[in-house]
Amino acid sequence: MTEKTSRNDKIDPWGSMKIEDYSKVVKQFGISSFLDVIKKVPQPHKFMLRNIIYGHRDFGRVADAMASGKKFVMLTGLMPSGKFHFGHKMIADQIIYYQKMGAEVYICVADIEAYTTRGLSMKEIEKLAIEEYLLNYIALGIKPDKCHFYFQSKENAKYQTLSKMISKHVTFNELKAIYGGDSLTPSKIMSALTQVADILYPQMEQGRCPTVVPVGTDQDPHIRLTRDIASRFKEFKFLPPSSTYNKFMSGLQGGKMSSSKIESYIALTDTPADARKKVMRALTGGRETLEEQKKKGGQPHKCAIYELYTYHLMDDDGELKNVYDDCVAGKLMCGDDKKHCADLIAKFLEKHHDKRERARKDVGKFIKD
Ligand code: TRP
Repeated sequence: MTEKTSRNDKIDPWGSMKIEDYSKVVKQFGISSFLDVIKKVPQPHKFMLRNIIYGHRDFGRVADAMASGKKFVMLTGLMPSGKFHFGHKMIADQIIYYQKMGAEVYICVADIEAYTTRGLSMKEIEKLAIEEYLLNYIALGIKPDKCHFYFQSKENAKYQTLSKMISKHVTFNELKAIYGGDSLTPSKIMSALTQVADILYPQMEQGRCPTVVPVGTDQDPHIRLTRDIASRFKEFKFLPPSSTYNKFMSGLQGGKMSSSKIESYIALTDTPADARKKVMRALTGGRETLEEQKKKGGQPHKCAIYELYTYHLMDDDGELKNVYDDCVAGKLMCGDDKKHCADLIAKFLEKHHDKRERARKDVGKFIKD
C-alpha cells in the first residue's frame, strides 16, 4: 500500500506495496542511483541498461570484483507462496546473469519465513518450491550444479547457529525503527533474523568477500538490518553486503502484479491459450478512440504490453525502440500490438514448458540430501 509506506516512512516487506515514484524511494531511504555505478559494470545486464535495476547499495565493490575476476557472491532467497510468474522471473534472470559473470551463487528456500509468515505447511512449501521455483529456474537456464542451494529449515549447524547468534547483535528498538513497532511479531522477527543469516552465511564459507543481493525494494529493510549487523560480529569479519533494487512489474490490469490476483500476472505454467487471453485483456496506454490514438499516439510508459516487451520479451534495443516510436507516433494500434505480444508470449511458454518437463531429471542436483 502506498499510503502505508508514506504514512509510516517505512517499507513493509510483508505488506503489499505499489511504488509510483522510484526517485522518491532513492531519496527517502538512502538507496543510491544505479546510474552512479553502471559504468564500472563490465557487461551490464539489460535490466541495468533499461533502468529496471534502478538502485543499489555499495554495488561498486561487486562491480570491481566482476571486472578484476576476484571472488564475489550472489545470494538470493525465494519464498514459495504461490505461482511463479514473470515478476519472479526477473530474479531468476539476475541469478543466471551472475552465474555467467562468475559469482559463487547461493540460493535458499525461505521455508521458515513462508511457514511463520504465510501460514503454509512445510509439505506445501516444499512442493511449491520444487514445482514452481526449481523447475522454472532450471528451465530458464540456472545451472543447479553450479550453485549452493539450501532450505532454511535444513541447512547445516553452522548456518543454524549463525541465525541464532544474530539476535545478540541487534536491539528491539532497532528492529522497531526498521520495521515499524506496531506490526512486529515473533514470526516476523524470526524470519528477519533468518534472512540476515542467509545473507551473511556465504561469507562464512567463502571468506570475507563482496556479496550482492538482488531484490525488489520491499526487501530493503532486511538489507539495511544485515548491513548494520555485519560489522558487529567479533568472531567473523563480514563485509557488509551490497544490494541492487529492481522495479516491480505492474499488474496486467494496472496496480501491482500479485500472486493472489490471477488476472494480474502470467505464470510460467499458464497455458499459451490462457496467457494469450490475459494479454488481450491487459491495460494499455491506448486512447479512448482509434481516431484519438492516431492523432495523439499511445502512451507506452503506461502500458502493460510495453512493460512485458521491456522486461522480458524484447532483448533487442532496436526492436523495442521501433515499437515505442510507432506507438507514440500513432502508427501502432493496441489491438495489433496485443496480438504481437500474445504471439511472443505463447511461443515463449510453449518452449518453456518443454524445457520445464526436461528439467525434472535435474531437480535432484539442487537437492542433494
Ligand atoms: N524475504 C524474501 C521474500 O519474501 C525471501 C528471502 C529469504 C531472501 N532470504 C533471503 C531474499 C535472502 C534475499 C536474500 O521473497
